[in-house]
Amino acid sequence: MLLHHCGNLVLISVFWKPSEGNNGYILVTANGGINQQRVAVCNIVAVARLLNATLVIPTFMFSSVWRDTSQFADIYQEDFFIDYLKPDIRIVKELPKELQSLDLEAIGSVVTDVDIAKETRPSFYLKHILPLLMKNRVVHFVGFGNRLASDPIPYHLQRLRCRCNFHALQFTPKIQATAALLIQRMRQNATHSGILDENLVGPFAKVKGKNQKKISDTWLYT
Ligand SMILES: *[C@@H]1O[C@H](CO)[C@@H](O)[C@H](O)[C@H]1NC(C)=O
Ligand SMILES: *[C@@H]1O[C@H](CO)[C@@H](O)[C@H](O)[C@H]1NC(C)=O
Repeated sequence: MLLHHCGNLVLISVFWKPSEGNNGYILVTANGGINQQRVAVCNIVAVARLLNATLVIPTFMFSSVWRDTSQFADIYQEDFFIDYLKPDIRIVKELPKELQSLDLEAIGSVVTDVDIAKETRPSFYLKHILPLLMKNRVVHFVGFGNRLASDPIPYHLQRLRCRCNFHALQFTPKIQATAALLIQRMRQNATHSGILDENLVGPFAKVKGKNQKKISDTWLYT
């Protein structure tokens, strides 16, 4: 369904100005496995744009199911993510010093999955989250599994979500190299590559045949 909405990925309207993120800071601790976390990241990117908020690099909740302690930079290229979305939203690596000591729980700025319905519409964020953000300068979403509707959602926000999912979130080179190797093995008899290969494994999508060994030497076992 996302793909359906994702044409013209690079055509950003001339009327589209970067958000300065002046309304405050959004923190998110995404739950679930890697797929749900990825959806949460792109949803929060859209919400940050909607609210003119600055996004702090997402963190991932440790789950007793997945037992994965990886954080954003272990899985995705953090600086690439920040730079790629510069035309859309402002992203920083951490809260400014003066906001770090706030007791977010005490001031009511912690918002969990209990407070937001699944597939919530943008209007909810404008009505209930924006005032909180303006008042406290920081809102921390904890959980945030599927908390933004797929439909209906304004076209420009949907396109931003697509840019996040298909372009801004690049796996780290080591993960890309491993994935490229798996793809090569599964497609050893195929005559052409898949349409999403480059989105998923970046430059490694092009490495084929006799270079296969090079992928493994350079990235897999170092
Ligand atoms: C965000 O900024 C844009 C451009 O300045 C403005 O049109 C919009 O009303 C702002 N929205 C919020 C929620 O502050
Ligand atoms: C590729 O083709 C060979 C020969 O027909 C076959 O043995 C092998 O299982 C195929 N590999 C894949 C991944 O389909």
